[in-house]
Amino acid sequence: MEKQKRETNVNRRGVLCGAALIAMGFLPDAAVAATGITQNKAGKIVVDLTLNKSLAKVGGVITIPLQDGSSIALLRKAAGTKGLVALNLSCTHQGVPVQMSGSAWVCPAHGSKFALTGAVINGPAQAPLQKYPLTATATKATIG
Ligand code: FES
Repeated sequence: MEKQKRETNVNRRGVLCGAALIAMGFLPDAAVAATGITQNKAGKIVVDLTLNKSLAKVGGVITIPLQDGSSIALLRKAAGTKGLVALNLSCTHQGVPVQMSGSAWVCPAHGSKFALTGAVINGPAQAPLQKYPLTATATKATIG
């Protein structure tokens, strides 16, 4: 009974997250592969924003594959240099890569569902997708 109540609360939270994103004008595009990716001397990932036009508007999402097989999503949730978010696309349940499905990230292993900004909508994952530190200018985003 307690578990069912918790799941209901999680689902309600997911609906509210989705409604809040829509209310903020955050309607996502399909994720596209990133271009213009380099690594700086400190080992951080640098994304040339002028080459990734989908990030010019709120809802734009690009994915950046990493050498270890994992991926990062860089998404725009708001305008300006503070409006970008970088997420680790490894499920926080058991590390399986999540995939974009509509306006969410879904894990194919056990069905966890995350809001585009990483919050848990449905378990079994309990923790949100990991966010990477990010700094941005008008022309580039530095992740790591
Ligand atoms: S690894 Fe993603 S739900 Fe289990």
